[in-house]
Amino acid sequence: MTDATSYVLILFYSRHGATAEMARQIAAGVESVAGMTAKLRTVPAVSPTCEAVDEEIPAEGAVYATLDDLRQCSGLALGSPTRFGNMAAPLKYFLDTTSSLWMNGALIDKPACAFTSTSSLHGGQESTLLSMLLPLLHHGMVYAGLPYSEIRLISTQSGGTPYGASHVAGARSDKQLDEDERALAYAQGRRIARLTQALEAMRQETTV
Ligand SMILES: Cc1cc2nc3c(=O)[nH]c(=O)nc-3n(C[C@H](O)[C@H](O)[C@H](O)COP(=O)(O)O)c2cc1C
Repeated sequence: MTDATSYVLILFYSRHGATAEMARQIAAGVESVAGMTAKLRTVPAVSPTCEAVDEEIPAEGAVYATLDDLRQCSGLALGSPTRFGNMAAPLKYFLDTTSSLWMNGALIDKPACAFTSTSSLHGGQESTLLSMLLPLLHHGMVYAGLPYSEIRLISTQSGGTPYGASHVAGARSDKQLDEDERALAYAQGRRIARLTQALEAMRQETTV
């Protein structure tokens, strides 16, 4: 039974909007599952001064995540543009502030997935998704990719990987999600929502 307050946190960074568009599609997938709510949260950019100088509320889009958003989620979809085959620094910077959650085991046995966007087809989507998996495993989360029963994984000419949903945004980062990418991001959202319900039930059983 899913708690009325439970939600899947969709935590992402996006500079040019492609990863943000994926996040919204994953949210639609999450909310297509009865009783499931998606909470979209982003992280601020980091600067060489390493001190927060941004306004507390971004000018547009999702608001900034707090540690409590992460602590209290029942499932997680983590999104980042690919930066040199790796996740972007702003998201990593936020994750590096999560030691208190790790010490309290706040994310143990919660499901998580990752999604990314690149400019080029072979620009490192899988390595980025794998890099995002590492901190999630340290937190004790249960990682969910995309199974090949999602047959678009076989036919896609753009994004979509068994490691997680992805998008090829083009050299100017202005290509829209195509049909396969959209469907696979949606499927990723549905899958994480269903796993959230299942694992939440399991956690409740083990705490009684
Ligand atoms: C510093 C930097 C490094 C990047 N590294 C890669 C890369 O390794 N492979 C790739 O295909 N695209 C790379 N890109 C392009 C972005 O991944 C791509 O434009 C992505 O779609 C942007 O997502 P966003 O619109 O959510 O910001 C890089 C961009 C920047 C600024």
